[in-house]
Amino acid sequence: MKFTFSNNLMGMKPSEIRELNKMASTPGLISLGGGMPSPETFPKKDLEEIMDYVMDNYADLALQYGNTLGNEDSRKIIAEMLFKTEGFQTTSKNIIVNSGSQQGLYELAVVLANPGDTIITEEPTYVGAVSAFSANMLRMEGVDIDRHGMIVEKLEEKIKYLMSEGRKPRFIYVIPTFQNPTGYSMDENRRKNLIEISEKYEIPLVEDNPYGQLRYYGNPIKSIRAMKGGENTIYLGTFSKVMTPGLRLGYTVAPDEVMEKFNLIKQALDLATNSFSQYVALEYVRRGIIYRQIEENKRIYRVKRDRMIQALHDHMNGMAEWSEPEGGMFVWATMKEDIDTRAMIPQAIKNGVAYVSGQAFTTRNGQKKSMRLNFTFGTPDQLEEGIKRIKKTVNEHLGR
Ligand SMILES: Cc1ncc(COP(=O)(O)O)c(C=O)c1O
Repeated sequence: MKFTFSNNLMGMKPSEIRELNKMASTPGLISLGGGMPSPETFPKKDLEEIMDYVMDNYADLALQYGNTLGNEDSRKIIAEMLFKTEGFQTTSKNIIVNSGSQQGLYELAVVLANPGDTIITEEPTYVGAVSAFSANMLRMEGVDIDRHGMIVEKLEEKIKYLMSEGRKPRFIYVIPTFQNPTGYSMDENRRKNLIEISEKYEIPLVEDNPYGQLRYYGNPIKSIRAMKGGENTIYLGTFSKVMTPGLRLGYTVAPDEVMEKFNLIKQALDLATNSFSQYVALEYVRRGIIYRQIEENKRIYRVKRDRMIQALHDHMNGMAEWSEPEGGMFVWATMKEDIDTRAMIPQAIKNGVAYVSGQAFTTRNGQKKSMRLNFTFGTPDQLEEGIKRIKKTVNEHLGR
């Protein structure tokens, strides 16, 4: 049999991160590559108790097919949680529970745009969003970001240019808080400007916020959805970083008319999200365990973040520049010399360390000198050792 495949996948590359994950079990390898939470943050005891409770009290519902948009009680409790942690009001009818926010990204690509349409993202942006958007053959136009987030002046220029070419963007996708991959956060003024631009040109705004609850330093910045004028923003959140990614639970908050379309696409994708996971999350939030766990995660990750930044100062001063994020899971390091970090990966693996190259996150063949370093998975000692190994690799690569 000779198989022929769809054009949809032509723009898709195998994810460097998934490839790296395969190597994660190499003995002695320190992985700064994946975006994984630390297993020590998984609330194992609580979840065990909750799972027993769900089986004792809700087995018939939790093991059954569920509502396409999600279990009503779970959506209500998500709305309550969002009011507490993000400060915006929404109701269950404006929430869809998804199999991870990753599925929410795919739904957006199908619902808001046609294959071949243009959308705007940050440059660099989350590699999983690139996959989800590429799978629907969307053309991504990246707008540069700096340490205050997407440069909105460039955004407006880009929109005008694209419109003059007859390619009005179908939506703008941003990760404004502790961005993946850079760790940068967009400041309040730019958030305001972004809302204004979205309204002015009538281009929907999508805010992906998996890391907002994990702030270690500095003052909170309101999510775009919570800001004045931000009510039309489509907002994505997840339980992956504050409970466990294994239960695959994310959610999208959107205006009524968008929800109708999500309902259609969700039926095609999987009929409904895992009912059992939804009942577990419902209890996890209802009992308030999530709020305690967020504090616990912050305590653990703050130490790790500090250790990685210290290690960069101690070992890579003069060799690279890096972000010093106030939250989230990633540091973005850019080499001073002209190094192709992707080409350097095999040598890094040989030296016992993995990272993700900047190129994995580009919308346009850029970011060659950069790398994303995860600080949540390794132990503090491993993080420091990992940085030393990267330093060694860079020196070897430069023939020093
Ligand atoms: C920016 C961003 N969006 C979405 C996701 C997907 O998360 P999940 O599908 O686990 O909810 C991630 C995961 O790392 C992410 O970093």
